[in-house]
Amino acid sequence: MTQELLDNVREKGEMDVVSDIAFPLPAKVIAEMLGVPDEDWNIFQRWARMENAPTPTAQQDGHTMQVEMSDYFSRLLAERRRSPREDLMSALSVAEVDGERLSEHELVSFCTLLLAAGQETTKNLIANALVCFTDHPDAMQRLIHEPAFMPKAIEEILRYLPPVWFLFRQAKTDVELAGQTIPANQMVLAWTASANRDATQFPDPNTFTIEREPNRHLAFGHGIHFCVGAPLARLEAKIVLPMMLEQLKNIQRVKDVPVTVHTGIVFVIRSLPVTFQ
Ligand code: HEM
Repeated sequence: MTQELLDNVREKGEMDVVSDIAFPLPAKVIAEMLGVPDEDWNIFQRWARMENAPTPTAQQDGHTMQVEMSDYFSRLLAERRRSPREDLMSALSVAEVDGERLSEHELVSFCTLLLAAGQETTKNLIANALVCFTDHPDAMQRLIHEPAFMPKAIEEILRYLPPVWFLFRQAKTDVELAGQTIPANQMVLAWTASANRDATQFPDPNTFTIEREPNRHLAFGHGIHFCVGAPLARLEAKIVLPMMLEQLKNIQRVKDVPVTVHTGIVFVIRSLPVTFQ
């Protein structure tokens, strides 16, 4: 998949990292894993682009899309039950937890969750990597000559520019934290992006260094809800980033074009034009 995407842009000498690589790759991976047929790629791609805009019309559209996605996955699930294939939907439809099958509602919600949780995040990991590399050309050069550093570099990208900035939690009981009382039932935003720059954990926290070790960042969360897709996201990055550095020489950001970002829970890069040879 990565090679196909790179072949589409290699001759051009320029691309938008977001729309040409970082967006389509995770979407194609999840579509294939779930078992979405090729002919439905266009609808699936539209869902993967889903953005939470605050306007009432957009929220209405979001709702319509939610219903549309649920109907689609319900139909696909029924099809896979009739004739199972080698995909996640077929596996989930027969999976048992403590002797019980997942309900139709749970299965459909899980499919939509996988798309929502795995798409935008991984897209931003790939795009953020290119921001880090182009901002730190020495690190990029080192990775070109010593690709064995890539897994460490990926952890540093996750720490330094994490795709998810904060997590929601609700206090179960009164909690005393750093002299403050958080009352039971209070909603809390845990700023994991800030924890990733905690100087007591990470020496020189505002410096991007691909040699950082240990690197116990919180980009994938912590505890029982630790990201179930972390190995997949790491794998995608370990495949796509070395291929980009190997096949596209002298990657540079287009001058005077600021990286356009939208920030909320997820740090979203909308566009990242680069040139290369
Ligand atoms: C770089 C990419 C990714 C990042 C930064 C990321 C980040 C996170 C974080 C921070 C959480 C914890 C949420 C919480 O504690 O409230 C989480 C949970 C989750 N992630 Fe990811 N994720 C990524 C990729 C993926 C992928 C590829 C998938 C699936 C295909 C995925 C599926 C999930 C799911 C299902 C959960 C919920 C787990 C649970 O509640 O037990 N994520 N992710």
